[in-house]
Amino acid sequence: MLNWDKIILIGFMGTGKTTIGSLLAKELHVPFADTDQVIETRLGTTITDIFAKQGECFFRSQENSVIQELLASNSIVMATGGGAITNLHTYMFMKQQGIVIYLQASIDVLWERLQDCESRPMLKSQYPKEQMLNLYRIRQPLYQQAHYSIQVDDKTPFEITSEIYNLIKKMGNK
Ligand code: S3P
Repeated sequence: MLNWDKIILIGFMGTGKTTIGSLLAKELHVPFADTDQVIETRLGTTITDIFAKQGECFFRSQENSVIQELLASNSIVMATGGGAITNLHTYMFMKQQGIVIYLQASIDVLWERLQDCESRPMLKSQYPKEQMLNLYRIRQPLYQQAHYSIQVDDKTPFEITSEIYNLIKKMGNK
């Protein structure tokens, strides 16, 4: 039986998980958490710094712990980092605990949003576009295993939020 009290947003960097998650939580009157923000607050530093000093593996283990903790609450809207689904144990846990919604954007839209971004360590490369395409290809089949997918291209955060809100009202009998 799916638990509609916990809504988990997944998707590539730049799909708007944080913005939409926080709008959705307000609409639903439930707490909102962004896993990256929780990690930064807890460790007192930035994601960029964590990647640089402790590496991706350390970051992923923090991400996994934070997700487990946040999903222990009764109701929440949780925005995850784009790579949270690469830990299959964490991904399965999220799917067991709540409704996982994939915010899906096209490669062109993503590149438009990410090309000048300095705060995404996963795109730090001599060839950031190739790096993005590579990650996208690897992750896309994983994202598609979410319970629901919402296309975000050409929509405002308010439109996307209301689409998810309507889905929850309809499918979750809220
Ligand atoms: C990552 C995405 C980031 C952040 C970290 C790693 C990824 O979150 O968790 O830089 O592996 O895709 P956003 O998706 O919010 O940018």
